[in-house]
Amino acid sequence: MSIAILGAGGFVGSHLVEYLLARGDRQVVGVDRSAEKLAGIGGSGFTFHLADVRRDTELVDGVIASAETVIDLVAYANPSLYVATPLEVVDTNFLTNLDIVERCVRHGVKLIQYSSAEVYGSFDDHTGVADEDETALRYGPVQKQRWIYACAKQLLERVIHAHGLRGDLEFTIIRPFNFLGPRIDYLVEPGSMGGPRVFAHFLSALLGGGPLHLVDGGSVSRTFLAVSEASEALGVVLDQREATRSQIYNVGNPENNVTIAGFAELMKTSYEELTGTVSPSPLIDISGVAFYGEGYEDADRRPPRIDKLARLGWKPEISLTMLLRDTIGWYLDHPDALGPVSPAAPF
Ligand code: UGA
Repeated sequence: MSIAILGAGGFVGSHLVEYLLARGDRQVVGVDRSAEKLAGIGGSGFTFHLADVRRDTELVDGVIASAETVIDLVAYANPSLYVATPLEVVDTNFLTNLDIVERCVRHGVKLIQYSSAEVYGSFDDHTGVADEDETALRYGPVQKQRWIYACAKQLLERVIHAHGLRGDLEFTIIRPFNFLGPRIDYLVEPGSMGGPRVFAHFLSALLGGGPLHLVDGGSVSRTFLAVSEASEALGVVLDQREATRSQIYNVGNPENNVTIAGFAELMKTSYEELTGTVSPSPLIDISGVAFYGEGYEDADRRPPRIDKLARLGWKPEISLTMLLRDTIGWYLDHPDALGPVSPAAPF
């Protein structure tokens, strides 16, 4: 069986490649315009094409046509870009992905589409959970262009679902909830605004002794999942093809739900324990507009309901404390691997 991973060189993609090669039961073909995060990952079961999925369409078409399953990870998943370059975000997160969907339809290939927890939008309360098949999707005004990413992802999901209804596409959609682990993002110069996701900002600040910026006070919540366990969720989807046909799955760990202010405290404690030092980095508030620019609005998230995937045998177990210890430890062991460089590469 052969699996094509589009966006194989990104954070999630590089971990999926590693996971699938360790299983050794499938040929894996990867495409990405960067191979940096794949350094040291490879073997006879892996073929890699250094190519831009958005432009090298002939190559992509050939890769899709010869695969049994396509995993589509092509995306900008970085909120600073949603604000700074909203049209490029639609171009990549909807139009490029739509082209991939249509090629899967044409070639009769199964599609596993990575979407986003962000499709749920924002909530007024913290009481509920995000359910794949029940929860309504709710966004802010058009003038807050942060939501353009969620809209693009939602429309893509709806198009894929409609193809499923028409019977011309076999698909499964995965909604990731803040995967975390080695290689997540590039570190940045301490004090940088915008840029990569929250972990890289906070770690960069801790390494440089600068402040951890809490956007709008850090009162919103996220749930963090070990990327290794996210790869195992994909394994369940691959192994249970019939059961997962035409389904949407949250992939996250509701036990690891935390406010961003709480996440900052945990990171600081973990960093101090690992380095045996007392960090001088203060936690300071900053407005979302000052940090990301006009058009930013934060998304508060409910933790995911994960019963659907749990019924198929997947259960995340790595606690946030353990996850932070492992991930910060990895960055401390690889001081030259990832930064400081900004902004983070897409995919
Ligand atoms: C991003 C993407 O938009 C999602 O598609 C993706 O699913 C998600 O990452 C993910 O990694 O799964 P978000 O959770 O908003 O969504 O990403 P972050 O940039 O990591 O922000 C998390 C929270 O931390 C936000 O409230 C943000 O305002 C805050 N933040 C970020 C800070 O308080 N300080 C910082 O230095 C950086």
